[in-house]
Amino acid sequence: MPSLAEAFKGHPVYLHNSHLDFDLAREVPDSHTWPLLNDYPSGDSLNDESVPVIDLADPHVVNRIGHACETWGVFQVTNHGIPMDLLSDVESQGRRLFMLPTQQKLKAARAPEGIDGYGFARISSFFSKRMWSEGFTIFGSPIEHAQKLWPHDNKQFCDVMEEYEKEMKKLVRWLMWLLLAYLGITKEDVKWAGPKGEFESTSAVLQLNSYPACPDPKRAMGLAEHTDSPLLTILYQSSISGLQVLREGGVPRWVTVPPLPGALVVNIGDLLHILSNGRFRSTLHRAVVNRTHHRLSIAYLWGPPTNIKLSPFSKLVTDYHPPLYRPVTWTEYLGIKAKYFNKALSSVRLHAPLKQPFETDDQNSVHVG
Ligand code: OGA
Ligand code: NI
Repeated sequence: MPSLAEAFKGHPVYLHNSHLDFDLAREVPDSHTWPLLNDYPSGDSLNDESVPVIDLADPHVVNRIGHACETWGVFQVTNHGIPMDLLSDVESQGRRLFMLPTQQKLKAARAPEGIDGYGFARISSFFSKRMWSEGFTIFGSPIEHAQKLWPHDNKQFCDVMEEYEKEMKKLVRWLMWLLLAYLGITKEDVKWAGPKGEFESTSAVLQLNSYPACPDPKRAMGLAEHTDSPLLTILYQSSISGLQVLREGGVPRWVTVPPLPGALVVNIGDLLHILSNGRFRSTLHRAVVNRTHHRLSIAYLWGPPTNIKLSPFSKLVTDYHPPLYRPVTWTEYLGIKAKYFNKALSSVRLHAPLKQPFETDDQNSVHVG
């Protein structure tokens, strides 16, 4: 594999410390060109299946959500209680951030071993090609990085992001109890949720993703296929589509999750897949780019307390349903994910898995380590 410097050779004008200045790119450089040869077809034109859309005010909400988690591992929610104004504020503050000149954004660059700040997609290290996206990760308060981006004018950004984090935390707990109710899991079964089931000591990051318009979208990848590691992700996508989930059963195919005004996308993460003993699926998904529109998405990734051993709920384990996964803590699992990436879930599996797409050996574009 060429070194990064070699890969970027010949494109000096719009590269800063190997970051691509997307606004100046008139073509997709070799460093960002993806071989999509062995890819699955996009299913939208094959038939009209679509990711379930669930109204949280529906009296049958528990069954609807549970069924969606078992069949798709992803669904959209409406009537979720997050004010539209807040969604549009978070979107415009995100745009404001990504519109800054690259040099300015790099002042808030993520440290090599750090969690928060500006940089490439966090999964970039697993791939030899760069993705057509940039990201900004917030862990707790964004103030430190926001001060570097806007020394005199960062209050509004911080206020909006903190308000959004607060609202997401409420929504994610609500969703979690709906999901658990479907599985027959109560507060007594989840000690780490605390006596009132508040999930007080859980942890979360807010991930702002920016996908600039791309001169040759078929050859570029916004965010490569992955599953989310933690328990649940809530994603807000702007009005531009790009998110696709891998639908299995029959010929595996990519299904686009269309942006619906005001709706939020919910994804099952690997840890909830483990807790549910494989009943809820953490589904492979990715983001593709387009020629004309900049796309923004905001992902709230919610995980458990870091040092609790997580294993399939004992209520879900019987003679006929032995535990499928060994116990892991969130911290351990992150280490496993950093090593095995899309094979992490199968690496903690105790019994022979049903065939999953990320368990094939066809990982040509992936280099681990
Ligand atoms: C993510 C993710 C999809 C998107 O941030 O984990 O899957 O559409 N994002 O941005
Ligand atoms: Ni994701």
